[in-house]
Amino acid sequence: METMARHFAKGASKEESVDIVCKRAGDATLSDLLHCDGLAIGSPEYFGTMAGMIKDFFDRTYNVAREKTIGLSYVVFVCAGNDGRGAITQIERIAAGYKWEKVQPPLRITGPPSKQDLAKIEELGHTLAAGVEFGIF
Ligand SMILES: Cc1cc2nc3c(=O)[nH]c(=O)nc-3n(C[C@H](O)[C@H](O)[C@H](O)COP(=O)(O)O)c2cc1C
Repeated sequence: METMARHFAKGASKEESVDIVCKRAGDATLSDLLHCDGLAIGSPEYFGTMAGMIKDFFDRTYNVAREKTIGLSYVVFVCAGNDGRGAITQIERIAAGYKWEKVQPPLRITGPPSKQDLAKIEELGHTLAAGVEFGIF
């Protein structure tokens, strides 16, 4: 997941005027969420769902952020041993609770990411950043 996150950030940083904040979920704060214009959630699938620290981030931010982040553009990318669909489903359910806007289909990578996978994730990062920058999302 860390490799994928780095590649996502690399793609996003192609939009030079967009500031990228790349954090582990446990370090991400309510303030980060309230002050972003676009959000990417990357998670490994553990036991058929998202990583516990992603769930913790949602638990910590929902009460305050749900009124203030309605319509926030977001994307999801998941790495998994052989599935990943459970993590995506659960993250999307929670994102629907916040009323965020999914602006690209989720990216699901199984097994070690290939060069092509990493190129796709970079492209996803660039797409989110460009969409935010040009007001498309
Ligand atoms: C505790 C644990 C539970 C896992 N559960 C699943 C699972 O339910 N489905 C799946 O496809 N892969 C599962 N995997 C495989 C991980 O999703 C995969 O190895 C992923 O790349 C881990 O990302 P990380 O190296 O950043 O932790 C699990 C791995 C661990 C360690």
